Amino acid sequence: MDPHAAPGRRTLTADTLAGLCDGPVGAYLHVPFCARICPFCPYNKVIPRLGQPERYFTALLAEARRHLGAGVPGEAGFTSLYVGGGTPTLFPDLLRPIVEALPVAGERAIEVLPTHGTPARLDALRELGFTAVSVGVQSFSDDVLAHLKRPHDAAAARAAVSAALARFDLVDADLILDAEYDDAHAGTFLRDLEQLFELGAHQVSTYPLMRFGYTPFGPAHHERRREHELLAQAGRLAQTYGYQRRSVWTFNHPNAPSYTSITRRRYLGMGAGASSFLGRDFLVNHFGVETYIAAVEQGRLPLARWLHLGSLGGAAYDAFWQAYSGRLCASSLGNRAVRAGLRAGLPLLVAGGLVAPDPADDGSYRLTERGFDSYHDLERWVTYHLIEPLWAEMLSEHAAEGGRAGWASPGRTRRRRVWAVVSRPLRRPV
Ligand SMILES: C[S@@+](CC[C@H](N)C(=O)[O-])C[C@H]1O[C@@H](n2cnc3c(N)ncnc32)[C@H](O)[C@@H]1O
Ligand code: SF4
Repeated sequence: MDPHAAPGRRTLTADTLAGLCDGPVGAYLHVPFCARICPFCPYNKVIPRLGQPERYFTALLAEARRHLGAGVPGEAGFTSLYVGGGTPTLFPDLLRPIVEALPVAGERAIEVLPTHGTPARLDALRELGFTAVSVGVQSFSDDVLAHLKRPHDAAAARAAVSAALARFDLVDADLILDAEYDDAHAGTFLRDLEQLFELGAHQVSTYPLMRFGYTPFGPAHHERRREHELLAQAGRLAQTYGYQRRSVWTFNHPNAPSYTSITRRRYLGMGAGASSFLGRDFLVNHFGVETYIAAVEQGRLPLARWLHLGSLGGAAYDAFWQAYSGRLCASSLGNRAVRAGLRAGLPLLVAGGLVAPDPADDGSYRLTERGFDSYHDLERWVTYHLIEPLWAEMLSEHAAEGGRAGWASPGRTRRRRVWAVVSRPLRRPV
């Protein structure tokens, strides 16, 4: 059977999945456990019950071995490894066998909760082969951190970034752009950013606070203009420190490579709540930790949803992530219709002041500041119309397991008409 033919209701085995990859893939591992829940966070995670982490990591290793057995990474190994969560640093000893089992050719990155960014724990991550870390700073204001109900203070976040910089060639720090929750705290974000530039962080990621309806924080209105203004001010501050804007939300030290949690071209996700993009197919694993473990124990791939995008949809997906990094290059896209569509649309984007020809790269275009603002708005639309409803649907698996993710109320998610349409081709692999 042609593995790229539109999938019907057929069993998706590791071998058929391997056939869907249209080139080299990176590996993503999801660790769905946190010791405490931050009320603004939409990611898939639970507070672990007794014995659950041991059973979960055993299943994760089994899932990884199934893909290795099918030859997914090819002879060269996975192009990169990214371990995210949840809190990937919560059970380092349980994570170790899986990381050791994966052949990885390039960068190995992991998210680090600031309280776990101690010299001893960071040394252990280095010894395990990690080359890049992302520290979840959010803010250096204790008031803002208390408002976000973070499980650490500013001193712990600062110490974690400094300890990481002394050990890794690539340290990213996450900030929340608009967490200043009242006028008394206005200016906090820019002061935080300045501190990270002073510390010499290799990359700073500045995310807007996304308000998913199902989280304890619930939905809230975005102040679009204020977000644009904060990003513009961040861009000017970055320039004074010699930092470069390398994507909509990231600023990099000029000598540092980019740390790319979300723009990897192809990736295979493993673990509860992990997703995969293989070039023409988008796949989502079960979110429910017990549902995930049971599927793996029964010898199945733990897949919950499958969207066959085809060559056209796959190339459109590539164009979307290309634009995230501030660049558009039609000739690098793998579908003739998408290439032609982009070429036809580029003069309009130039006329609208959203992109400009890249003087350093013939045929490529760079997003202007206005283009970045428009992309920022597009990301918000995608987040609330596609990602939030998908994750809400998937998080209801926890309720079926006895409500262990008590923080998530999928029923409070905003209803989106567009989701009712685009979710129709989503299949449930058997
Ligand atoms: C999985 S967490 C990082 C690892 C660790 N659990 C921690 O909190 O430090 C990944 C990042 O997502 C970002 N994040 C979480 N919830 C968010 C939201 N509602 N909007 C925007 N960014 C969010 C935070 O910046 C956080 O550092
Ligand atoms: S922000 Fe990090 S620590 Fe907080 S709930 Fe989300 S994954 Fe867990």
